[in-house]
Amino acid sequence: MRKKFIVGNMKMNKLPSEIGPYIERLKPLVKDAEGDVVLCVPSTNIQNAVLHTKGTNIKVGAQNMYWKAQGAFTGAVSPLMIKDLGAEYVLVGHSERRQLFIETDWSVNKKVAAALEYGLTPIVCIGENLEQRAHNRIEEVIIVQLSLALRDIPKHDIHKIIIAYEPLWAIGTGQTPKKEEVNEIIGWVREKIRTSYGEKIAEEMIIQYGGSVNATNSKRFFNMPEIDGGLVGGACLEPEEFAKIINYND
Ligand code: PGA
Repeated sequence: MRKKFIVGNMKMNKLPSEIGPYIERLKPLVKDAEGDVVLCVPSTNIQNAVLHTKGTNIKVGAQNMYWKAQGAFTGAVSPLMIKDLGAEYVLVGHSERRQLFIETDWSVNKKVAAALEYGLTPIVCIGENLEQRAHNRIEEVIIVQLSLALRDIPKHDIHKIIIAYEPLWAIGTGQTPKKEEVNEIIGWVREKIRTSYGEKIAEEMIIQYGGSVNATNSKRFFNMPEIDGGLVGGACLEPEEFAKIINYND
């Protein structure tokens, strides 16, 4: 049985001085959580986040990285740097990175490989936009994104990867697909993993839903059999609301 996996994506929010107080408020509220809890913070906040989550059930992740370990790449942050600060996860290919920072399937693939090489767990985001959805291209779009993201990744590393299905039109809009639809789409992703890498890996793989998850709808989504938790943006910014999402069955 897969555990639920709930990730907060803080995006470009919270100052380094604000992340400690935020975590101190979140900690007691989620200490008995059944699922895994990860907080993906801006790179500037990783150190403080790691300090304040030490000894708790909250893990820390980054939101992006470059794929090289070091070198002349002005402004970039490397997997080694993230790892050295104590983060364990990294979001890869979030739609805001793809849309606003021209991230491609090719660079997503390089980042997945680099994350695995340096011992970080990549959380790979895939999802269709409204136009692709209107043209009934959801399955084609997400399977292509998935296949390109995982290209040339050795089979023995696949189970370490987490997938987040995030339809672009649901991110930050308050609109969501129906839970049955998300369940079916995640089923397609799992089926692709099954045909490419086998039953065992497909059954173990964590595949989340993301896009306007909040304290009101989390239970609905997370109780579906294929949906292994969520990637939560706006609703993770207040510890009380994020805790309700994490404790969705209470
Ligand atoms: P949202 O963001 O929950 O604010 O829709 C989700 C995400 O971008 O990962």
